[in-house]
Amino acid sequence: MSSRKKRCRNWVKRQSRDLYVRQARTLGLRARSVFKLREVDRRYGLIRPDSRVVDLGCAPGSWCEHVASVVRDPGRVVGVDQLETRPLEGVRIIQGDFLDPAIQAMIRNHFGDELIDLVLSDMAPNLTGIHVTDQANARKLQNSILSFCRAGLSAGGTVLTKVFEGDSLAEIRSDYGNMFSRVISVKPEASRSRSRELYLLGKGFHGRTGRTTRSAKVC
Ligand SMILES: C[S@@+](CC[C@H](N)C(=O)[O-])C[C@H]1O[C@@H](n2cnc3c(N)ncnc32)[C@H](O)[C@@H]1O
Repeated sequence: MSSRKKRCRNWVKRQSRDLYVRQARTLGLRARSVFKLREVDRRYGLIRPDSRVVDLGCAPGSWCEHVASVVRDPGRVVGVDQLETRPLEGVRIIQGDFLDPAIQAMIRNHFGDELIDLVLSDMAPNLTGIHVTDQANARKLQNSILSFCRAGLSAGGTVLTKVFEGDSLAEIRSDYGNMFSRVISVKPEASRSRSRELYLLGKGFHGRTGRTTRSAKVC
């Protein structure tokens, strides 16, 4: 058997054993990753019924589904992905690359003069296997999220972003620390223990004119 077939078979085996995959199927949810967001939301109270929320890397849409179950007012939730996302009631889906400035402008235009309360990102850059390139791509993605927050997040706003253990994590965390009062590292239970992924939760955005050199409390 080719190694690709073996990897594929192992993936199918893991998926069928995975408690969260089974639970998502039973509940008719779009992806197991919803359990990560649900846990962080439960612990830290991210989403309010009147929140304006942007979900970056939203396909297939389980995070958007959760957000839309709390935010009842249509037009307050925008999901962005380069892949197609099946339509969801109360959610504006924008298909495109978040790194493209035209896509970021579309998101901001959607909200007009209103600022965003919560930016979620479950995006991960495609891995090339070349360490230096992968680290640079991870940094580029986070820098883009940070500058998007700088331009459109409300003072006191929140960001939750997926990152990976690695050389650039300390720098990324410190960049968030310069813009948010508190930065918390979260590894939700549904995040596979062997995965290097974790989430940075930035609370209390200093605001567009806020302090940018103050160091935050980093937990
Ligand atoms: C783990 S999936 C997200 C799952 C989603 N949170 C859910 O619960 O359904 C990550 C997504 O990020 C998207 N993505 C990665 N980089 C992106 C980029 N630069 N622009 C837009 N989408 C991106 C991928 O296409 C992929 O669909």
